[in-house]
Amino acid sequence: MPTLDDPVEVGDLALRNRLYRAPLLECAGTDADSADVLRADLEPAAAAGAGLVCQGATVVRGEGGCAAPNMTRVHDDEFVSSLAPVPEAIESHGGRAFAQLEHGGLRSMEIWHAGYRDDHPELDQLAVSEPPAALRAADRAGFLDLSPRVLSTETVYDLAADFGRAAERLADAGYHGIHVAGANMGVVQQFLSPYYNRRSDEFADGFRFLELVHDEIRARTDVPLITKVPAETDAPPWVRRRLSADDCVRLCERAADVGFDAVIPVSGSVFWDMHLVKGAYPERAWRDSHFESGYVDAFGSRWRARLVSLANRVQARFAEFEHAWNADLCRRVRERVDVPVCLEGGVRDRDRIDDLLGDACDLAGIGRPFYAEPRLPARLLGGDGAVACENCNNCVVPQVTGAPGVCRTPSVLAERGRREREGAYERD
Ligand SMILES: Cc1cc2nc3c(=O)[nH]c(=O)nc-3n(C[C@H](O)[C@H](O)[C@H](O)COP(=O)(O)O)c2cc1C
Ligand code: SF4
Repeated sequence: MPTLDDPVEVGDLALRNRLYRAPLLECAGTDADSADVLRADLEPAAAAGAGLVCQGATVVRGEGGCAAPNMTRVHDDEFVSSLAPVPEAIESHGGRAFAQLEHGGLRSMEIWHAGYRDDHPELDQLAVSEPPAALRAADRAGFLDLSPRVLSTETVYDLAADFGRAAERLADAGYHGIHVAGANMGVVQQFLSPYYNRRSDEFADGFRFLELVHDEIRARTDVPLITKVPAETDAPPWVRRRLSADDCVRLCERAADVGFDAVIPVSGSVFWDMHLVKGAYPERAWRDSHFESGYVDAFGSRWRARLVSLANRVQARFAEFEHAWNADLCRRVRERVDVPVCLEGGVRDRDRIDDLLGDACDLAGIGRPFYAEPRLPARLLGGDGAVACENCNNCVVPQVTGAPGVCRTPSVLAERGRREREGAYERD
């Protein structure tokens, strides 16, 4: 059985080990400083030994489509070439860098972020089909502002081509691979999901969009291509049309068949909720007065922000942390595909990772704990136990205000400081 230290190949690309940093929004924006911000966030993971570093989602278009404030856009040749120092720095430490491509569709800020939609009333809201009843109800209640433009067949082709062009730019800038954001309720998931996709054209089979994105990318670059694939098993019970675990397994098979070089099966909901980041209600983040005005701007008023916080509290009860919560799903996929299967979601300690490798997965991805310990790989690859992160989610909610992704829990930061002083993050 492989261990975390063993090399692995994704497509033609050799990785020095099986540990990767999962994509996490950096909120690095699209300006002259973006490369510095991204590099500061991502380089420590490679310097500390991670085989692969996945940059957080970047948006394929110049307008609209951002799921959160301050995301990086990758529509412009000159800007994307300015990101070259990011993969270069990662490579200089022996790591490899993948960039992730995204469009938010109905999850975009022009729909949910009150301040942004006031400032940008002109933006198109791209929808796969007429939005489901629950979103229309949230619109009537004032939590969303829906005036969607359902994509015509022709504009679906345009959108897929934008993924292809963005991939080409990023590969030219030196990124070693492309990661399609196929889950987390972005537009690809909205095509795949029977909850969102009620189309009658060729994209009624939502996989056809993912396949087209694949083809558009492959027509322009031959770097390895990977994707998240959703199961909507955590959707509320009243949502009848959803992707089951069986559907996810079949979609992974199809993704491997059309040429994706690795798949990341992830369970979640049909909504953008805590099932993506199972763990505690982020009490401290909601109470932090630094973010209060940002929450009011995002949700439209103080009382709406309070209601969102209350919903978050209730919902967190149904999304309790589980170790490696996608392991069973990945194991099922691994029996059916012959490309590497990447496990992420609650992957936390070295012994259990080694037990899962070669059984449930081929690579192990870790997300939030990198906020807590940017040089985490040095400890895990050195065989040193478990992560410091406590899954409290205080790093998650402030991102709706555009705040950067960092650990915001003092006890965990103190633990990191102690380990730093002990030299736990040094690497031979
Ligand atoms: C603040 C935050 C931002 C995230 N941003 C992305 C993203 O841009 N793209 C993506 O595919 N997943 C994103 N994720 C999901 C992570 O990649 C990962 O799947 C999730 O955090 C579960 O892994 P963990 O338990 O190790 O944190 C994000 C998660 C968090 C907490
Ligand atoms: S705030 Fe820190 S401890 Fe809490 S989930 Fe985020 S990284 Fe982990």
